[in-house]
Amino acid sequence: MRDAPAPRLHLFVCANRREGSPLGPGCGDRGDALYDALKREVALRGEIATTWITKTFCLGICPKEGATVARWPAGEASAIVTEVAPTDAAELLGARAAEPSAAGPTLAELARELDALEELQRKKVLDLARRLKPGLTLEDVQTPHDFPELDDPDWHYADGVLAGVQSVKSALSAMIRGRSGGETRED
Ligand code: FES
Repeated sequence: MRDAPAPRLHLFVCANRREGSPLGPGCGDRGDALYDALKREVALRGEIATTWITKTFCLGICPKEGATVARWPAGEASAIVTEVAPTDAAELLGARAAEPSAAGPTLAELARELDALEELQRKKVLDLARRLKPGLTLEDVQTPHDFPELDDPDWHYADGVLAGVQSVKSALSAMIRGRSGGETRED
C-alpha cells in the first residue's frame, strides 16, 4: 500500500442502470448527462488536474429524478447529494479554485497548471505500467519497447496523453522564453 496523488475534489456520479427492478431503472441516462455536464464545466474552469469526475454504480439512493453523487472531501456539506441535474453542475463543483482575471490566465498560471497536469499524468502512466508489470520504474517506462507487457492500448493512450501535455509544455516554455522581458503578463 502507498499514498497516491489526491484531487482537490472528487465527484462520483451514479450512472447505474437496472432493468425490471422494483428499485427502478437507476440513474442511468440522467447520470450520464450529469457526468458530461460536470466534465464540461471542469474543462471550462481549467481544473482537470485538480477536480476528478468518475462514473460509478448505485450509491444506494436511487432517485426518481436526476442522479446521485458522492463527493470527497465533503467538507461542511453532505457527502451524498441526490436528484442532481446537469444544470446543477457549477453549484456542485463549488467556487473555482482561483477566479481567472479579466485578462485571462497568465503564461505563468498556464505553466503551473500544465506542471500539475504533467505530474498527475506521469503518475497515471507509471501506475498503469505497474499494473501490467509490477516493479517498473519511471526510467523503465521511457523505453516501453523493452517491456512487452506495455503493449497495451490503455497504457499507450495514457502515455500519448502525457506526450501531448509535455509538447504543450515545451511550446509554452518557448513562448515564455521568447517573450521574456516583453509585453506579457507572466506572473
Ligand atoms: S441507481 Fe443511482 S443511486 Fe441507485
